[in-house]
Amino acid sequence: MKASAEACANIALVKYWGKRDAALNLPAAGSLSLTLDGLVTRTTVTFGEAACDTLVLGGEPRTGSMLGKAKAVLDLVRQRAGIDHPALITSENSFPTGAGLASSASGLAALAGAAAAAAGLSLSPTELSVIARQGSGSACRSVFGGFALWRPGTRDDGLDSHAVPLFAADHWDLRVVVVLLCDRPKPVGSTEGMLHTAATSPFFEPYLDRVPHDLDACREAVRDRDFDGLRRVAERSCLRMHATMMAADPALVYLQPKSWSVIAAVRAMRDHGLPALFTADAGPNIKVFCPAAVVDEVTARLRAVEGVTDLMVARPGPGLRVSEG
Ligand code: PMV
Repeated sequence: MKASAEACANIALVKYWGKRDAALNLPAAGSLSLTLDGLVTRTTVTFGEAACDTLVLGGEPRTGSMLGKAKAVLDLVRQRAGIDHPALITSENSFPTGAGLASSASGLAALAGAAAAAAGLSLSPTELSVIARQGSGSACRSVFGGFALWRPGTRDDGLDSHAVPLFAADHWDLRVVVVLLCDRPKPVGSTEGMLHTAATSPFFEPYLDRVPHDLDACREAVRDRDFDGLRRVAERSCLRMHATMMAADPALVYLQPKSWSVIAAVRAMRDHGLPALFTADAGPNIKVFCPAAVVDEVTARLRAVEGVTDLMVARPGPGLRVSEG
């Protein structure tokens, strides 16, 4: 009753922000992401060894919402396997936890894979994506490598709300430079932020209306390896998401002055003919995508931005990998 799994974080190019069902983590619209190698969570689950569900991440016992998300995944797995043993989860992230680097995506995807295998279940990637989604929405995309699309689905039970693989990791030789401006957990979690935005931002409905068009445009740009097309759709999806949050009452602001300096630097690169695009999630860090051929120059220019000290370079990465024992 023990198994391990590894999953990578993913970064959305068309963002998920808003739920049609908060309990089941059903999204109000679709989203499209790239799974990244180098941002990895490795998790081992053992059933029947601890007295109650226990989560140890990076050597520290975790409680609160982090344990709550893990329990949501464990309960689904236990229900399916017909067991009621408590689980010991030990997990390591290769990158800072909870700072807008999608650690919940890699973490809950790895947990779904490890828990299912430890419970003796042999589930398809689609079934694992449905389970991971209920721990953290974006985790459903980390089950798949490369570019993945989260189909929002229409069913009330959420069984048709999961990611599907679109293009494999080797489809397009991109690099993602993660500009780390903050490694502290975010002050407002994504679920709370989404519910607050939906309840108070007058931009929320118009924002959602445009997502299907962005998904089509993004998919085409990735299919054609059209970097400028990808830049246009990814930056507008990101900025519209942040504009919608900033129009909430009270405003929800994740981007900091340093984030805007990095964004300005990326825009300046393009004026000099250097292809690069920025995106940002529920935190101040900026992720810069570029073709592999220009990554050294992009990285050098980002390092020159005042306040930038820490960079990580990632490549398109694989999906969930499970190992028994
Ligand atoms: O999966 P959650 O609940 O952590 O939400 C993720 C939301 C964003 O990262 C801001 C956007 C996305 O699509 O990943």
